[in-house]
Amino acid sequence: NSTDMYHYSQLIEKTEAAIAGIQYPQQPEGLYEPMAYVLSLGGKRIRPVFLLLAAQLFDKHAERHMDAAVSLEMFHNYTLLHDDLMDKADVRRGQPTVHRRWDANTAILSGDAMLMLASKRMYEATIECPVAMQEYLKTALEVSEGQQYDMNFEHRTDVTLDEYFEMIRLKTGVLICCALRMGALLGGASQKDADILYAYGEQIGKAFQVQDDYLDVFGDVKTFGKKIGGDILEGKKTFLLINAFNKASATQKMQMMEWLDCHDAEPQDKIDFFTRLYEELDIPGDYNRCMKECFDKADALLDSLNVPEDAKAALKEFADTLSRRNR
Ligand code: IPE
Ligand code: IPE
Ligand code: MG
Ligand code: MG
Ligand code: MG
Repeated sequence: NSTDMYHYSQLIEKTEAAIAGIQYPQQPEGLYEPMAYVLSLGGKRIRPVFLLLAAQLFDKHAERHMDAAVSLEMFHNYTLLHDDLMDKADVRRGQPTVHRRWDANTAILSGDAMLMLASKRMYEATIECPVAMQEYLKTALEVSEGQQYDMNFEHRTDVTLDEYFEMIRLKTGVLICCALRMGALLGGASQKDADILYAYGEQIGKAFQVQDDYLDVFGDVKTFGKKIGGDILEGKKTFLLINAFNKASATQKMQMMEWLDCHDAEPQDKIDFFTRLYEELDIPGDYNRCMKECFDKADALLDSLNVPEDAKAALKEFADTLSRRNR
């Protein structure tokens, strides 16, 4: 019955408590302090919560899988230390990024060590479920592949929407898929249900990164916690930029190329040019259509799962809050 099920907000609280309780070795401080720092800045905790919500579909003691959930959040935060260095991002979760507060070497080495701590925790949490560990290892490699495509695309202006969707599937989608499939496997799901949840994660993950691209331009720095226009300055091939390219007139295309080539302009002028162009071309309309398509497909996949409705409702409610997110 419904009293056995956790609401997503309870799972966020439990995750926060588990993260606050992580014990780091004392020395060397320069290695471990940045980990505690980045993990203490908050964040939506969507990966651990998806893992726990998926586990809860099959196992009413979902909190048993907290170590695996925390491991995924640690893994995610390791990717952020390296991603912010690669993307030259100064602010994350409203605070200085690790490479700004310390330095680049700190972000690299603390990130590496964080990956190992996450992996050790995952190994211990999945001793009785080796397929879950395999899922984690496969996913970790795919995230690096996605990040490499993301960087490769900075130097191209002919990236197609399909190439973009594959890149974001790898850099962002698969970790959400992994959270859901791992939760399912650890909770005792059938292979079939675990696969449905993976496919569900593909839709949520796609929507999630497209939203991230949208918020990078049209979000509010106070809630989003990252620099607005950062993707524009880094030449990222985002959902917005690729759609704009596809819709632009010959003149607009020429202007876009000139701005993309220009690295000595006033940064805000570049941001303003692309922001206005996106509005002119109604890219927000394309964005809304893409969101609707992903969340509709996700809903249909969830409907096809043969599990108690109240557990499904907890997952659906969480996905609904993500569809309206501003951070
Ligand atoms: C940021 O992830 C990186 C992306 C995949 C877009 P989140 O948006 O989940 O960041 P936090 O953990 O909530 O800060
Ligand atoms: C996130 O892509 C992908 C990973 C961190 C693996 P972004 O570079 O868009 O993420 P943010 O915007 O910095 O959070
Ligand atoms: Mg980034
Ligand atoms: Mg990036
Ligand atoms: Mg981004």
